[in-house]
Amino acid sequence: MTWIEELAARADAVLPDYVSRYVHSVAGDGACAREGVEDWDALRLRPSVLRDVSTIRTGVELLGTPVASPIVVAPMAQQVAANPLGEVATARGAAAQGSLLGVSTNTGVRFADIAAEGAPWWYQVYLTADRGITRTLVERAVEAGAAALVLTVDTTSLSVEHPEIHPPNWPDESLRFRTGNLSAAEVEAAGAGLGTNFAVGPDDIGWLASISGLPVLAKGVLTARDARRCVDAGAEGVVVSTHGGRRLGNSVTSASALPEVVAEVGGECEVHVDSGVRGGHHVVAALATGARAVHVGRPVMWGLAAGGAQGVADVLGRFRGELETTLRQLGVASVLDLYPVDVVRRGSAG
Ligand code: FNR
Repeated sequence: MTWIEELAARADAVLPDYVSRYVHSVAGDGACAREGVEDWDALRLRPSVLRDVSTIRTGVELLGTPVASPIVVAPMAQQVAANPLGEVATARGAAAQGSLLGVSTNTGVRFADIAAEGAPWWYQVYLTADRGITRTLVERAVEAGAAALVLTVDTTSLSVEHPEIHPPNWPDESLRFRTGNLSAAEVEAAGAGLGTNFAVGPDDIGWLASISGLPVLAKGVLTARDARRCVDAGAEGVVVSTHGGRRLGNSVTSASALPEVVAEVGGECEVHVDSGVRGGHHVVAALATGARAVHVGRPVMWGLAAGGAQGVADVLGRFRGELETTLRQLGVASVLDLYPVDVVRRGSAG
């Protein structure tokens, strides 16, 4: 068992069954989720020797925000189901590691309480059926100090196979989602307007930038063509992502899509990546392929469930420690010098 599998087992032991299954869930027969990890595993780096790696630097700026490490917490719904403090605990863990976190539209926690923990954070947007609600939530996120918006563009339908593990169907009312930053009266008045609007288009990128004044990242891009469309529509960053293998079950993986996206838009915007990243060696492979930052999902959720804020800090700290060791062994002293390092696929001629 890897340490992350052990951590997942500890989380599963404390979570209600439907929550634990929700965190693990994958689309289709799980090919994309499985290969998402395998494709990172298959990348090989060509090390350099006789380099001064006595001091390792992992600090970067992400859309203008300085962070101690390019390892970012991916936005994940409904963290109060993993720990009563939800994103407050996640933000505390991220702050302890000098990291940044994404905050899902489906948070049950007030933005101001998340912001008070001191970690920089980005607000992830799912458009709501009533756009006025999206506008209200974005304005509240801006007021509370969100540093960027992340528009998730890969969610044109839900792909959770088992309806009972979808949060709105959970038996415990208090774990329901999307209500952390609206008053009870606003939720009541919103009714069906609070539902997801699955029709996301390029114009939504410009609209979000205009109502927020913040940079917008488009999350869930897997082709050079779409990355180009996002940048042309005003995105200042793209996140190459399969949503952790939770959307299209037989999708190409993030590791396989990253090179073409970097080649197309890497000179014009920040390219980030997530899905299946399970250690510092994967982070280095992603950065060496041209990603500026790597987002981590489930391992953080499992850390949150198993150990609260400390559990989150432990996961991020472990990733960062592995990142530093891998850099040292690779002969590269700073994450900023990682691209371009030679990355070859196992079994290829290189
Ligand atoms: C997610 N993800 C996600 N993405 C998003 O844009 N908005 C959201 O609300 C959620 N919610 C969510 C809940 C849970 C339980 C998981 C596991 C994931 C996707 C997430 O941001 C990220 O893309 C993946 O989790 C990355 O893959 P790994 O690291 O989990 O393999």
